[in-house]
Amino acid sequence: MKVEKKFIQVNEPLLNGNEENNLIECIRSGWISSEGPFINQFEISFAEKVNRKHAIAVSNGSVALDVAIAALGISKGDEVIMPTFTIISCAAAIIRAGAIPVLVDSDPNTWNIDVSKIEEKITKRTKAIMVVHIYGLPCEMSKIIEISKTYNLKIIEDSAEMHGQTYQNNPCGSFGEISTFSFYPNKHITTGEGGMIVTDEDSIAEKCRSLKNLCFNSKQRFLHDDLGWNFRMTNLQAAVGVAQLERLDEFVKIKRKMGNTYHHLLEELDSIQIPIKSTDYAENIYWVFGVVLRQNVSFDAKTAMNKLNNLGIGTRPFFYPMHLQPVFAKMGLFKNQSYPVSENLAKRGFYLPSGLALKEQDIITCAEALKNILND
Ligand SMILES: Cc1ncc(COP(=O)(O)O)c(C=O)c1O
Repeated sequence: MKVEKKFIQVNEPLLNGNEENNLIECIRSGWISSEGPFINQFEISFAEKVNRKHAIAVSNGSVALDVAIAALGISKGDEVIMPTFTIISCAAAIIRAGAIPVLVDSDPNTWNIDVSKIEEKITKRTKAIMVVHIYGLPCEMSKIIEISKTYNLKIIEDSAEMHGQTYQNNPCGSFGEISTFSFYPNKHITTGEGGMIVTDEDSIAEKCRSLKNLCFNSKQRFLHDDLGWNFRMTNLQAAVGVAQLERLDEFVKIKRKMGNTYHHLLEELDSIQIPIKSTDYAENIYWVFGVVLRQNVSFDAKTAMNKLNNLGIGTRPFFYPMHLQPVFAKMGLFKNQSYPVSENLAKRGFYLPSGLALKEQDIITCAEALKNILND
């Protein structure tokens, strides 16, 4: 009998807590829309977890950024500083508001925004810095906060990948005027699709609640003084979120164990760069376990990923920088701009299976496969 070798998926979530019971409760009670008790419970517990006064559940982490930008009143002609090495949602939210994304390269060690290059990008039109914590380590927040204070800039903190992470013992998601999260299934906690906006300011929270719900007039329904969106999360999604949040600390431990196992197996290799285990401000939570091929490797990430795929290992490429996106070139944005660190990360970076359901033996298999293709 031929035994089929298992394909190791790049991500598989863990849904074996109270998720099923909570979902059954939704079905039995009939609360399946965006009204229902789990929404409130999820928002309250999430706000508590990240030390914020308000949490507003939305349909995903991308629209959370759209709402954040709109709620801060960022609009036509305003500039927002952001990393080029991130997901398109960040730049898209700024551009949709009529504002201008101003890009900064990455730090070659942490892969986060290079804070030493932020100040040179500030102009009279700069209104905010969009901070994006990448792959498991937070950005250097104390320096960013100092810059934001000096130049009177708002901070929008994209914590989509940072549930359960802290910077100098304060939760990621507690640093921005507005901070946002995603609950896509590859995140530390998931709701299938989903997102959260958090803030301490009552007026900003109220604005976000209105914007995500079509800006209904509070006194007369179907009367609208502003344009909003339907970005509501459902009670079904929140039911999963409540169950997941109960296990966040456990999930962070699992991810750290995964990262440390990969480290142990790969740290001797001089042909790859792997994530930093810890800095003086945080211990990595390994949203994903990234690998960057060093210059002594004769092939790029695409080839490496193909080779690993053939060995039954799922991978994903790193982000593709904003200044190289065809859609923005068509808009005439970022012409002739070059950010070498991010370009190298895009060309030579990818990540290994990093999901919560990954077994220790899977990690060993992935590390062995990587070693094999590097020695080929
Ligand atoms: C940094 C960052 N921001 C925003 C998002 C968008 O979140 P979503 O997929 O929920 O729209 C992601 C998704 O992976 C992300 O990594």
